[in-house]
Amino acid sequence: MSDRLTMALPKGRLLKKVQDHFGRYGIIFPDEDDRKLVIEDTSGRFTFFLVKNSDLPVYVSHGIAGLGICGEDVLTESQTDLLKLAPLPFGSTKMCLAARKDTPPPAGSGPLTIATKFPHFTRTYYHKLGVAVQVIKLAGSVELAPVLGLAPYIVDLVETGSTLKANNLYVVQELARIRVYLVANPAYYKLHYKEIEEFLEMLDIETTEPSP
Ligand code: PRP
Repeated sequence: MSDRLTMALPKGRLLKKVQDHFGRYGIIFPDEDDRKLVIEDTSGRFTFFLVKNSDLPVYVSHGIAGLGICGEDVLTESQTDLLKLAPLPFGSTKMCLAARKDTPPPAGSGPLTIATKFPHFTRTYYHKLGVAVQVIKLAGSVELAPVLGLAPYIVDLVETGSTLKANNLYVVQELARIRVYLVANPAYYKLHYKEIEEFLEMLDIETTEPSP
Protein backbone atom coordinates (compact mmCIF):
# COMPACT_ATOMS: atom_id res chain seq x y z
CA MET A 1 0.00 0.00 0.00
CA SER A 2 1.51 3.33 -1.09
CA ASP A 3 1.83 6.03 1.57
CA ARG A 4 2.00 8.82 -0.99
CA LEU A 5 -0.58 11.56 -0.64
CA THR A 6 -3.05 11.53 -3.52
CA MET A 7 -3.91 14.80 -5.23
CA ALA A 8 -6.13 15.62 -8.22
CA LEU A 9 -4.79 18.36 -10.47
CA PRO A 10 -6.78 20.17 -13.15
CA LYS A 11 -5.62 19.69 -16.72
CA GLY A 12 -5.38 22.85 -18.80
CA ARG A 13 -3.91 26.26 -18.14
CA LEU A 14 -3.79 25.89 -14.34
CA LEU A 15 -1.60 22.78 -14.51
CA LYS A 16 1.50 24.64 -15.69
CA LYS A 17 1.11 27.12 -12.82
CA VAL A 18 0.80 24.28 -10.29
CA GLN A 19 3.84 22.59 -11.82
CA ASP A 20 5.92 25.80 -11.62
CA HIS A 21 4.83 26.54 -8.06
CA PHE A 22 5.38 23.02 -6.73
CA GLY A 23 8.73 22.84 -8.58
CA ARG A 24 10.02 25.66 -6.37
CA TYR A 25 9.48 23.41 -3.35
CA GLY A 26 11.10 20.34 -4.89
CA ILE A 27 7.87 18.65 -5.95
CA ILE A 28 8.67 17.76 -9.54
CA PHE A 29 6.46 15.87 -11.93
CA PRO A 30 6.58 15.28 -15.70
CA ASP A 31 4.76 17.31 -18.34
CA GLU A 32 1.18 16.61 -19.30
CA ASP A 33 2.36 15.99 -22.88
CA ASP A 34 3.09 12.33 -22.36
CA ARG A 35 -0.68 11.71 -21.94
CA LYS A 36 -0.22 9.87 -18.67
CA LEU A 37 -3.03 10.73 -16.30
CA VAL A 38 -1.62 9.16 -13.14
CA ILE A 39 1.84 10.48 -12.33
CA GLU A 40 4.19 10.42 -9.38
CA ASP A 41 6.45 13.22 -8.22
CA THR A 42 10.16 12.58 -7.94
CA SER A 43 10.28 13.27 -4.18
CA GLY A 44 8.14 10.19 -3.56
CA ARG A 45 5.50 12.10 -1.59
CA PHE A 46 2.63 12.43 -4.08
CA THR A 47 0.61 10.58 -6.64
CA PHE A 48 -1.17 13.04 -8.92
CA PHE A 49 -4.28 12.39 -10.99
CA LEU A 50 -4.74 14.74 -13.94
CA VAL A 51 -8.47 15.29 -14.30
CA LYS A 52 -10.81 17.58 -16.18
CA ASN A 53 -11.34 20.79 -14.23
CA SER A 54 -15.06 20.28 -13.63
CA ASP A 55 -14.56 16.62 -12.60
CA LEU A 56 -12.02 17.45 -9.90
CA PRO A 57 -14.49 17.88 -6.99
CA VAL A 58 -16.06 14.54 -7.92
CA TYR A 59 -12.76 12.69 -7.49
CA VAL A 60 -12.00 14.44 -4.19
CA SER A 61 -15.50 14.14 -2.72
CA HIS A 62 -15.49 10.39 -3.47
CA GLY A 63 -12.10 10.10 -1.76
CA ILE A 64 -10.35 8.80 -4.89
CA ALA A 65 -7.99 11.73 -4.51
CA GLY A 66 -7.50 12.96 -0.95
CA LEU A 67 -6.44 16.44 -2.01
CA GLY A 68 -7.07 18.65 -5.01
CA ILE A 69 -6.29 22.02 -6.52
CA CYS A 70 -9.35 23.78 -7.73
CA GLY A 71 -10.75 27.21 -8.59
CA GLU A 72 -13.61 28.61 -6.53
CA ASP A 73 -15.66 28.73 -9.73
CA VAL A 74 -15.56 24.94 -10.07
CA LEU A 75 -16.10 24.40 -6.33
CA THR A 76 -19.19 26.62 -6.35
CA GLU A 77 -20.73 24.81 -9.30
CA SER A 78 -19.98 21.35 -7.89
CA GLN A 79 -21.91 21.91 -4.63
CA THR A 80 -19.68 19.37 -2.89
CA ASP A 81 -18.58 19.57 0.75
CA LEU A 82 -14.82 19.75 0.37
CA LEU A 83 -12.54 21.40 2.90
CA LYS A 84 -10.92 24.57 1.59
CA LEU A 85 -7.50 24.26 3.23
CA ALA A 86 -5.91 27.42 1.87
CA PRO A 87 -5.93 29.77 -1.12
CA LEU A 88 -2.87 29.42 -3.37
CA PRO A 89 -0.81 32.37 -4.61
CA PHE A 90 -1.46 31.84 -8.31
CA GLY A 91 -4.28 31.44 -10.81
CA SER A 92 -6.64 34.15 -9.51
CA THR A 93 -9.20 35.33 -12.06
CA LYS A 94 -12.32 37.46 -12.07
CA MET A 95 -15.91 36.40 -12.65
CA CYS A 96 -17.42 39.11 -14.82
CA LEU A 97 -20.63 40.15 -16.50
CA ALA A 98 -19.78 40.91 -20.14
CA ALA A 99 -21.63 41.98 -23.26
CA ARG A 100 -21.21 43.26 -26.80
CA LYS A 101 -19.82 46.77 -26.96
CA ASP A 102 -23.17 48.07 -28.26
CA THR A 103 -25.11 46.57 -25.32
CA PRO A 104 -25.58 48.95 -22.38
CA PRO A 105 -25.26 47.77 -18.76
CA PRO A 106 -28.47 46.23 -17.42
CA ALA A 107 -30.82 48.57 -15.60
CA GLY A 108 -33.46 47.80 -12.98
CA SER A 109 -34.40 44.44 -11.53
CA GLY A 110 -34.36 42.35 -14.70
CA PRO A 111 -35.19 39.91 -16.02
CA LEU A 112 -31.66 39.44 -17.38
CA THR A 113 -30.84 36.74 -19.91
CA ILE A 114 -27.34 35.42 -19.23
CA ALA A 115 -25.40 32.64 -20.94
CA THR A 116 -22.78 31.00 -18.75
CA LYS A 117 -20.80 27.92 -17.75
CA PHE A 118 -21.54 28.95 -14.15
CA PRO A 119 -25.32 28.75 -13.58
CA HIS A 120 -25.11 28.23 -9.82
CA PHE A 121 -22.83 31.22 -9.27
CA THR A 122 -24.94 33.38 -11.61
CA ARG A 123 -28.32 32.54 -10.07
CA THR A 124 -27.02 32.94 -6.52
CA TYR A 125 -25.30 36.25 -7.30
CA TYR A 126 -28.35 37.87 -8.92
CA HIS A 127 -30.94 36.36 -6.60
CA LYS A 128 -29.07 37.93 -3.66
CA LEU A 129 -29.48 41.27 -5.41
CA GLY A 130 -33.17 40.60 -6.08
CA VAL A 131 -32.59 40.62 -9.83
CA ALA A 132 -34.50 38.05 -11.91
CA VAL A 133 -32.30 36.03 -14.29
CA GLN A 134 -32.89 33.58 -17.07
CA VAL A 135 -29.74 31.46 -17.25
CA ILE A 136 -28.75 29.65 -20.45
CA LYS A 137 -26.20 26.97 -19.59
CA LEU A 138 -23.32 26.45 -22.00
CA ALA A 139 -20.31 24.14 -21.78
CA GLY A 140 -17.69 26.45 -23.30
CA SER A 141 -16.82 29.26 -25.71
CA VAL A 142 -19.44 31.34 -23.93
CA GLU A 143 -18.28 34.51 -25.70
CA LEU A 144 -20.10 33.31 -28.80
CA ALA A 145 -23.52 33.77 -27.14
CA PRO A 146 -23.74 37.58 -27.37
CA VAL A 147 -21.98 37.60 -30.75
CA LEU A 148 -24.59 35.23 -32.26
CA GLY A 149 -27.56 36.65 -30.32
CA LEU A 150 -28.23 33.73 -27.97
CA ALA A 151 -28.08 36.04 -24.95
CA PRO A 152 -27.19 39.72 -24.50
CA TYR A 153 -25.01 39.03 -21.45
CA ILE A 154 -22.56 36.40 -20.32
CA VAL A 155 -21.08 35.61 -16.92
CA ASP A 156 -17.61 34.21 -17.43
CA LEU A 157 -14.07 34.14 -16.13
CA VAL A 158 -11.79 36.86 -17.38
CA GLU A 159 -8.08 36.37 -17.00
CA THR A 160 -6.13 38.35 -19.61
CA GLY A 161 -9.24 39.78 -21.29
CA SER A 162 -7.99 38.70 -24.71
CA THR A 163 -10.98 36.43 -25.49
CA LEU A 164 -13.43 39.28 -24.80
CA LYS A 165 -11.34 41.72 -26.84
CA ALA A 166 -11.04 39.36 -29.80
CA ASN A 167 -14.84 39.05 -29.90
CA ASN A 168 -15.65 42.76 -29.44
CA LEU A 169 -17.05 42.26 -25.96
CA TYR A 170 -16.46 44.34 -22.82
CA VAL A 171 -16.59 43.82 -19.08
CA VAL A 172 -19.85 45.35 -17.87
CA GLN A 173 -19.07 44.59 -14.24
CA GLU A 174 -16.62 42.55 -12.17
CA LEU A 175 -18.70 40.30 -9.95
CA ALA A 176 -16.18 38.36 -7.86
CA ARG A 177 -12.54 37.48 -7.42
CA ILE A 178 -12.03 33.78 -8.02
CA ARG A 179 -9.09 32.19 -6.21
CA VAL A 180 -7.48 28.79 -6.53
CA TYR A 181 -7.68 26.60 -3.41
CA LEU A 182 -5.98 23.55 -2.05
CA VAL A 183 -8.96 21.38 -1.08
CA ALA A 184 -9.31 18.11 0.79
CA ASN A 185 -11.75 15.30 1.32
CA PRO A 186 -12.79 15.79 5.01
CA ALA A 187 -12.23 12.16 6.03
CA TYR A 188 -8.87 12.02 4.23
CA TYR A 189 -7.79 15.24 5.96
CA LYS A 190 -8.48 13.73 9.40
CA LEU A 191 -6.61 10.54 8.49
CA HIS A 192 -3.57 12.29 6.97
CA TYR A 193 -3.63 15.44 9.09
CA LYS A 194 0.08 15.33 10.00
CA GLU A 195 1.42 14.83 6.45
CA ILE A 196 -0.96 17.45 5.06
CA GLU A 197 0.04 20.03 7.68
CA GLU A 198 3.72 19.33 6.93
CA PHE A 199 2.99 19.86 3.25
CA LEU A 200 1.24 23.18 3.97
CA GLU A 201 4.18 24.33 6.09
CA MET A 202 6.57 23.37 3.33
CA LEU A 203 4.61 25.56 0.91
CA ASP A 204 4.72 28.44 3.44
CA ILE A 205 0.96 28.36 3.60
CA GLU A 206 -0.62 29.76 6.75
CA THR A 207 -2.62 27.02 8.36
CA THR A 208 -6.03 28.20 9.41
CA GLU A 209 -9.06 26.20 10.41
CA PRO A 210 -10.18 24.57 7.13
CA SER A 211 -13.63 25.61 6.00
CA PRO A 212 -16.18 23.84 3.79
C1 PRP B 1 -11.88 30.60 -19.98
C2 PRP B 1 -13.04 31.55 -19.77
C3 PRP B 1 -12.92 32.48 -20.95
C4 PRP B 1 -11.42 32.58 -21.13
C5 PRP B 1 -10.92 33.84 -20.51
O1 PRP B 1 -12.25 29.66 -20.92
O2 PRP B 1 -14.28 30.85 -19.71
O3 PRP B 1 -13.52 31.93 -22.11
O4 PRP B 1 -10.83 31.44 -20.47
O5 PRP B 1 -9.52 33.98 -20.60
P1 PRP B 1 -8.83 35.31 -21.11
O6 PRP B 1 -9.44 36.46 -20.37
O7 PRP B 1 -7.38 35.12 -20.76
O8 PRP B 1 -9.04 35.41 -22.60
P2 PRP B 1 -11.36 28.38 -21.24
O9 PRP B 1 -10.26 28.76 -22.18
O10 PRP B 1 -10.92 27.76 -19.97
O11 PRP B 1 -12.35 27.38 -21.96
P3 PRP B 1 -13.66 27.54 -22.86
O12 PRP B 1 -13.42 28.58 -23.91
O13 PRP B 1 -13.89 26.19 -23.44
O14 PRP B 1 -14.77 27.95 -21.96
